[in-house]
Formats: sequence, structure tokens, C-alpha cells
Amino acid sequence: MTALIETCDLAKTYVMGDQRVRALRRASLSIARGDFAAVMGPSGSGKSTFMNLLGCLDTPSKGDYVLDGQSVAGLSPDQLAALRNRKIGFVFQSFNLLPRSTALANVCLPMVYAGAARAQREAKAKAALETVGLGDRMDHRPAQLSGGQQQRVAIARALVNDPALLLADEPTGALDSRTSLEIMALFQRLNRDSQTVVIVTHEPDVAAFASRVIRFRDGKVVDDRRQEPNDAAAELAALIAGARRHEDAA
Ligand SMILES: Nc1ncnc2c1ncn2[C@@H]1O[C@H](COP(=O)(O)OP(=O)(O)OP(=O)(O)O)[C@@H](O)[C@H]1O
Ligand SMILES: [Mg+2]
Repeated sequence: MTALIETCDLAKTYVMGDQRVRALRRASLSIARGDFAAVMGPSGSGKSTFMNLLGCLDTPSKGDYVLDGQSVAGLSPDQLAALRNRKIGFVFQSFNLLPRSTALANVCLPMVYAGAARAQREAKAKAALETVGLGDRMDHRPAQLSGGQQQRVAIARALVNDPALLLADEPTGALDSRTSLEIMALFQRLNRDSQTVVIVTHEPDVAAFASRVIRFRDGKVVDDRRQEPNDAAAELAALIAGARRHEDAA
């Protein structure tokens, strides 16, 4: 595997008035193409700060970040936005969908920014929604979808420009355990199809589906290890079978 992401002594200090918060201190990491990493650590340890830097949503105070061979330090805000649009898909805990737009329109949005023609946008958005199992919900607005379905729309939107990197900050934080399993099974399937995935999670059960766990504390990487991942689809099937047996017995 070749490195998709290389960070070297990445640091971020937030300045608020005369107060300085060192959210990230010298984080050096390499993430290979095709990897599936989970980022863990206590609240305030710099996980979201790190993800926002990886996702080109923010710029580092110090250090460098090379994404797919391109150095991010020194890019103008416009160049950074263009790189983000081309290379990154971002999924948030709270879905961040436009409430008045249909699933299809939400998924089309990143391609509007990328300047694609309408027919092409719709074809790609439909394909992305089918990939996440929502081919029959394209005309639903977010309020007409379950939490797990809304998150799948957000994942389709993140995937629609074929990003090199899929980032997700606590993607299962707002979901019940069965729906979390569905979402993790989807991430595992995408990863098997060669998608590079990095997620933040507080839950060890969720991190167990990644191939690598990176731990932060006080803005630093304190642990980084590979593991044999659990199979989310198998756990989901077992959960569904168990629920059925329970119903049959009742
Ligand atoms: N925009 C900001 N301005 C000032 N300080 C910030 C900002 N964003 C984060 N911080 C501070 O930086 C530190 C790291 O925050 P970060 O959001 O990266 O933590 P986290 O590991 O994601 O925590 P959580 O698990 O609670 O989401 C915290 O002390 C936080 O208060
Ligand atoms: Mg966070």
C-alpha cells in the first residue's frame, strides 16, 4: 500500500483573544491507500481538529500535510476548497443534510460545486444512492427518512465525487446499535472495494470494525496499532436472526 496521507509534525493552535489552545501538537502519521483507520481518544484530545485538517476544512498552524502527493501547506483558501471537493468525502455525526431538499438533491450538491452538467449529476447521484441501498428513497426529504437512512444519504453525498479519502467524525454517534452496525457494514463494504476510510469514534465496538486504531491524548498520537477487524455484516445478520427468534418465541 502506498501512502495516501502523510502528516509531519502537524500542529494546530486556536487563538481566542489572549488565550491559546494547543488542540494538536506534532501529530505525525501515515495512512495508506486502502486503509480503514479508527481514531479514538478522550474528549478534547484533538480528534476533530485532526480530521478537519485531513479533510482540508482547516489549515495547520505548523507542520505539513501531503494528500495524494500534494502538499496542503501554503495553498490558498480557494485551492484548498478545490482540493477538498476533488479528494475528500466528509460524513458528520449530525448528517448535515439540507432539510428542504430531497435525498437526490442533497447528493447532487457536491457536483454542483464541481461544475458538472445536470444530467450527469443526477446519474451519478442515483448510482451513489443505490450503492448505499437507498434507490427507493431518492425523492424523500431528510425528515421523511430514518436516522440511519439520513446517514446513508450523507455517505452517498460524500462518495459522489469518487473521493480518494472518506472521513467520518463520529458517524454512528447519533444512531442506535443496530443502525450503527448497518453503517459500519457499509463502510466495511466500501473499504473492501478499495475506499480509504478514516473515522472518529468513542465506541470500542465501532472501532473494532477498523483495521487500525489510532489513539490521541492531549493533541498527540499515543498509540497506533493494526488489528483483525470484526465483521459488521455478520454481526448485523446475527442480531437480526436473534431478534427474529425472540419474536417467534413470544
Ligand atoms: N474552533 C475552536 N476554537 C477554539 N478552540 C477549539 C476550537 N475547536 C476545538 N477547540 C479546542 O481544541 C481542543 C481539541 O478539540 P477537538 O474538537 O479536536 O477534540 P475532540 O477530540 O474531537 O473531542 P470530542 O471527543 O469531544 O469531540 C479542545 O480543547 C477544544 O476546546
Ligand atoms: Mg470531536
